[in-house]
Amino acid sequence: MDTRPIGIFDSGVGGLTVAGQVIKALPHEDIIYFGDTARIPYGTKSTETVTQFSRQIMHFLLENNVKAVIIACNTVSSNCYETLKKEFDIPIIEVVIPGVETCLSLTKTNRVGVIGTEATIRSRSYENRLKEARPGIEVFPKACPLFVSLAEEGFTENEIAKLTVKTYLGELKEKNIDTLILGCTHYPLLKKTISEFMGEGVGIVDPAKETAHKMKDYLEAHGLTGDDTCGKRTFFCSDNTEKFDMICKRSLGIDCRARKINIEKY
Ligand code: DGL
Repeated sequence: MDTRPIGIFDSGVGGLTVAGQVIKALPHEDIIYFGDTARIPYGTKSTETVTQFSRQIMHFLLENNVKAVIIACNTVSSNCYETLKKEFDIPIIEVVIPGVETCLSLTKTNRVGVIGTEATIRSRSYENRLKEARPGIEVFPKACPLFVSLAEEGFTENEIAKLTVKTYLGELKEKNIDTLILGCTHYPLLKKTISEFMGEGVGIVDPAKETAHKMKDYLEAHGLTGDDTCGKRTFFCSDNTEKFDMICKRSLGIDCRARKINIEKY
């Protein structure tokens, strides 16, 4: 047993989609969430910059005595996971592998789409892993950077969201895919609009649930689970706490009252 919290981080509110699944899968765990709302987006920045931001967040989480960390950000998972794993002596779970595994279990036609930030798509993290696991699979990647701003703004189902989805995904729709990976933790906030546009024949993969289950399996296998006294959720962000609280309420139904911290000092 280990009653220390699990750390979860993202560049903003996107990782809340993962936090929600962690709360469901692991209700008796304390959680510390950090959203880097002052420095978002990560998806348009260099690997060097995003790695440095992620290091600072890891230091912050470690100062808060976390027992394990979930990188609830595809951009960080795709570009910095190996570096963070080498530099920090703590269990780290990322989101790409769970997404790949789910996609492979769902696709029947082996024609799949992957959408994510520019940095995630550029890294080919999904594409390479899918092709390694199943040579012959056809992968159609597409960067959709504006989806992050839409999600942060709460524009998830309105006309602007619909038009943006149509603009980015129009070509992908012609490719006859049967599975689409939401390779950015912000995108599940637009899931309804994306799914309606792609049509019923396209299964949508949101790696959040499997990521939460990976953490559960890890904690159980290593005797690190919390107990009935745990279940506290604490939220931090680096800017705009009110907006963060509003989105947290809307997406998780939690009155989180996020605390603002200066991440640059870590
Ligand atoms: N939510 C993050 C991801 O999963 C990135 C969004 C961004 O900061 O660009 O990639």
